[in-house]
Order: sequence, then structure tokens, then C-alpha cells
Amino acid sequence: RELFWAPNEGKHPPFNTHPDKLRALAKERLSESGWLYASSNAGLSWTHYANRQAFYRHQIVPRTLVDTNNRDTMTQIFGRDAAAPIGFAPIGINRIYHPTGELSPARVAGELGLPYCLSSAGSCSIEDAAAANDQGGSNASRKCETEGSRERGKREGDAIRFYQLYWSPNDAVTLSMLERAAGNGYAALILTTDTWQLGWRHDDVARGNYAFYHEHGAGDLGLSDPAFLETLSPEEQEKKNAREHGHAFSWDRLSWLMEQWRRVSGGKPFCLKGVQSTADARRAADMGVDGIVVSNHAGRQVDGAVGSLDALEKIVDAVGNKIYIMFDSGVRTGADVFKALALGAKFIFIGRLWVYGLGCAGEEGVRHVVKSLLAEFDILMNVAGYPSIQDISRDALESMPRGA
Ligand code: FNR
Repeated sequence: RELFWAPNEGKHPPFNTHPDKLRALAKERLSESGWLYASSNAGLSWTHYANRQAFYRHQIVPRTLVDTNNRDTMTQIFGRDAAAPIGFAPIGINRIYHPTGELSPARVAGELGLPYCLSSAGSCSIEDAAAANDQGGSNASRKCETEGSRERGKREGDAIRFYQLYWSPNDAVTLSMLERAAGNGYAALILTTDTWQLGWRHDDVARGNYAFYHEHGAGDLGLSDPAFLETLSPEEQEKKNAREHGHAFSWDRLSWLMEQWRRVSGGKPFCLKGVQSTADARRAADMGVDGIVVSNHAGRQVDGAVGSLDALEKIVDAVGNKIYIMFDSGVRTGADVFKALALGAKFIFIGRLWVYGLGCAGEEGVRHVVKSLLAEFDILMNVAGYPSIQDISRDALESMPRGA
């Protein structure tokens, strides 16, 4: 409501959040390295296009004469109330987009009552991101006193945060990361399983591999602080890169990691991110993993892969009643969020949208982009005739067969 009517009150939105315009503005405002890192995809970007294309196969069927006057975007994730089924996907090295780095998205997520997932390749520490997230949550609680029941779920201390892990071959490093995450209120561990090494991204490779050191290196060191990496000489970085790159873990070690996380966190949820195959989703469910993020890393890893939304549909059919299914890769609009929910995802994460917002206008940019998406989604529920998240099911879509 605030965004919709703001111009009437002489308050103009800072920029247009149409995804194409947002992307163009981010390109204009970011440094060359920041832009290339944020926008690069694996190979010829075919997976990136497949991600977008998968949404076109499904069309929303609007319902009419539905009482949508009291809409509710609220939902639950791992027993916590979230203001909407939309969260911040983990994205590394945020300081290359803005000097405030991870603190800005962490704060905005807390403020809006949405889950924030910190990347283990973050450029701010686990502790500082947690503090910013709580600070956002407490700003929201002050707002809550004045805005009443629609703001329920945004009480102080209610900031919801998760920690994304790049699994280090060094167990001591991994354990220290788990302990720091558990000790700082991160409510779930999300292990990224599609990035044992970064995919072949022409732009990053041509640029000189800086991203390789950071995205993987910081994760491996467990510091969430690449400032440390900058203290390494180029030769040390080179050695570190050669030593650590390409270490792939397999299922046999997963139980160990799951046990360690459950031990240090007192049994908090353990999730896998980067699942695209139904066989893998089944195996995760059989092993007692709490949740999976159906994701292909925004098409940055495997070129020529299946669109993530196409993978979602099959995975929901296979294990939707056994495991908590989250989704990302390619979400750009409120309608995309709606479609992924209708296909059975319980929670949707966004990546590039908030990063481009950060690059366009720092914290205000993140706030503007995410609030716009929330408003777009809420308005869609109104005009399409679906008043609550529970009303959104496959019946809400007309879907063309794959390959049509
Ligand atoms: C990512 N992603 C990612 N994932 C992860 O587990 N750890 C990380 O550090 C990063 N870093 C990262 C950097 C950048 C620039 C991008 C674009 C993505 C993947 C991210 O969490 C998420 O899966 C995708 O971004 C979701 O797709 P969309 O919303 O960007 O299309």
C-alpha cells in the first residue's frame, strides 16, 4: 500500500523495480568486477534461460468474486512465522556490491520479517550479520506497536536466519563454522551441494579468477570474512586455490555433518541446497535431512541443465509429503513466487533481485526491491483471487506439457 500510493504523497520510489530495468541500473552503478560477478552464468547461460522459460509453461488462472479483502501472506518455516514465503538466498562477498556488505540484507530481512540466509563466503562475519539481523527485527517490533495485527510475527528476537555452508575439507574449520552459526542464532544449516568448485563462467574466468578465491576460499576458511584473504600473498592464494578447489563430498560423509550440526545446535534443521534430481531428493529424505532447496545456483554451475522450476514439479511429486521443499533460481516477480508455491514449494528464495537492489542503492535499494516484490505478490493475490498462501495449489495453474 505504501509503495502503491507513495507518489500521491510526493514520495517517488527510488527506482523502477521491473527486473530488466533493475538489472540495467545495477549494471550502470556497480563496479565492473561487481557487475560481472553478480551477472555471470555458467557457459552460454542456457540454464539461466531454462530457469526463466520454465515459468512460462505455467499460467495463473484468476478466480473471480472471491473475498480477498483480508489477505494473508504469512506462512511458517521450521516452526517460525515468516511475513511471506519469500527469503534472502545466500550470496557471497556482498562488499563488492556495497560497503555495508551483508549487514544491509540481514537488517532488511529482519525488518520485513523474512528469513535471511548468510553465505559462508560472506564478507562480514557470522556474528556481525546476526547482530544486524536482530537489529532489523527490533526495528520491526517498534513498528509493530503502531501497525497492529497485520504486523504480527515481527516481534523482537523473531528475526529468522539460516547459515549456508560451503563444506571445508578441514573438519576443524567446519566445526568452528557450525559452532559459530549455532551460537549466533542461525536457526538452520543449509549445505550447498552444487558448488564443490565454481562453474565455468566466461566473464569471471576472463576477469582473472578473483571470484574463485573469494566464493570458495572464504567458505573454506570459515571466516565469512574475505578481508583475511586479502592479507594472503598472490602465491599463497594460488596455492590455497589449487589445494582446495574441486573437493567434492559424497553421501557417505553427510551423516557425519548432519550429526555435528544437530549436536552443536541442539537439533536445529539441516538442509541441502542445490538439489535438482528426484533420486537425490529421495535419498535426502531417506537420510533424514529436514529440508531441501531445489536450486541450480541461478544457472551459474551447470550449463545446459534443466530449469529449476521443472525440477521442482517432479521433486514435489516424489517427496513432497516427506520433506520440506524450498525453491530458488529464476524468480523475478510476484507471479513467479505464486507459481512455485502452486507447484508445491513451501518457501521461495530470491538471489539476484536483492543483490541488484544492493548494487543500485545499498540498504535502501535492498529494502525497495524486496518491499516491491512483497507488494507485487500481495496485489497479485488480490487481483487473482487467492487470499492466503493455503489457497494457492496446482488448481491455480494451467500448465503446458514440457517441451510444448
Ligand atoms: C549466488 N548463490 C550462492 N549460493 C550459495 O549457496 N552460496 C553463495 O555464496 C552464493 N553466492 C552467489 C553469488 C551470486 C552473485 C549469485 C547470483 C548467486 C546462489 C544463490 O544462493 C541462489 O541459489 C540463486 O541466486 C537463486 O537464483 P536467482 O534468484 O538469483 O535467480
